[in-house]
Amino acid sequence: MDRMDDAPAYPVGLRLRGRRVVVIGGGQVAQRRLPALVAAGADIVVVAPRATASVEAMADAGELRWERRAYRPGDLAEAWYALVASTDPAANAAASAEAEERRVWCVRSDDADAATAWTPATGRTEGVTVAVLTGRDPRRSAAVRDAVVEGLRDGSLVAPQHRARTAGVALVGGGPGDPDLITVRGRRLLAEADVVIADRLGPRDLLGELPPHVEVIDAAKIPYGRAMAQEAINAALIEHAKAGKAVVRLKGGDPYVFGRGMEEAEALAAAGIAVTVVPGISSAISVPGAAGIPVTHRGVAHEFTVVSGHVAPDDARSLVDWSALARMRGTLVLLMAVERIGAIADTLIAGGRPAGTPVAVVQEGTTAAQRRVDATLSSVAHTVAEEGVRPPAVIVIGDVVTVGRSGAGRG
Ligand SMILES: C[S@@+](CC[C@H](N)C(=O)[O-])C[C@H]1O[C@@H](n2cnc3c(N)ncnc32)[C@H](O)[C@@H]1O
Repeated sequence: MDRMDDAPAYPVGLRLRGRRVVVIGGGQVAQRRLPALVAAGADIVVVAPRATASVEAMADAGELRWERRAYRPGDLAEAWYALVASTDPAANAAASAEAEERRVWCVRSDDADAATAWTPATGRTEGVTVAVLTGRDPRRSAAVRDAVVEGLRDGSLVAPQHRARTAGVALVGGGPGDPDLITVRGRRLLAEADVVIADRLGPRDLLGELPPHVEVIDAAKIPYGRAMAQEAINAALIEHAKAGKAVVRLKGGDPYVFGRGMEEAEALAAAGIAVTVVPGISSAISVPGAAGIPVTHRGVAHEFTVVSGHVAPDDARSLVDWSALARMRGTLVLLMAVERIGAIADTLIAGGRPAGTPVAVVQEGTTAAQRRVDATLSSVAHTVAEEGVRPPAVIVIGDVVTVGRSGAGRG
């Protein structure tokens, strides 16, 4: 073979299920390559006197067969593909020569020029395999791979699916507001959407990045009362999905945490529309965290309870057992509670929670407007009124509030 051959490699995707792949060597190179071979369903034989703990674990798990010995001529007899990566140069050369003789494509970790195949830098996201070869610059291959995979994941590289793309609705949890806190999947679906119906909360900055052809509907501006607005949102989701559009319902936090996500999923299912639910980072945990408050802390709180304060404790519609909450020592996280915090605090104190329990109110967490106001259970209603705290805010009650005072956080 011409060792100075500069012709580009011919890329191909090997379908290895059930086909023998022989790996000579059980060190770091083998360890790095084996998971992809296992994922491809190859019939893998590793020939090596010693192997790393990970390679050994794969053998123990039955993912490959490990022959604990040095290479012997004939090892490649049944192979379709070989990876030669031992620490013994003579064995590598001999195995490589056997591969050439048997016309088995062979990767060599110690001598790329002598190899008949090269391993590309690969990455996988949502059914797409990206494989990059740059000849003799593996770092550049990895950098290009990373750029493409990351771009596909976060939607900055827009390559909408065509064959696999199905019309339907994705209920996407957008996280608490910071556009960086949506999931990778949510971001990608947003980039592929034809229609986006967005809530007032969540990463609204992302809407400005959508291409002009995307129809953005502001759910907060649908001109009905609360119940009717939900009907109108459901109707809009169904109408656009039935028209063959890829629809994203972008919600704040997680769709299933006080987000009416299941109501929408049920309405869509009843209309025969495919629904994908993408979880999101809920404000219940992330907003306290952004303000430097851990909802649990060793030796301080072994539980946290997330409660909706959208109806007052004495309201007949309330499903919350406030007296049970008042007896608990752990962290209480209240959502939608700013307007009723006085009645809630009074109920907790009356039920036994100490009046001096620390409380923090975090408004518009994770956004540029984030602010934190501290109080105690007995003073919180007054503080909220005096400071003009407004929704959206998360209220945290419990000793965790003071834990992080000297620690990190935005507010
Ligand atoms: C209808 S609930 C939706 C909760 C959302 N599904 C979640 O998982 O975060 C709305 C409430 O979430 C809280 N919330 C959501 N985003 C917030 C943010 N960025 N800062 C403070 N509170 C927030 C507020 O208590 C607000 O009233």
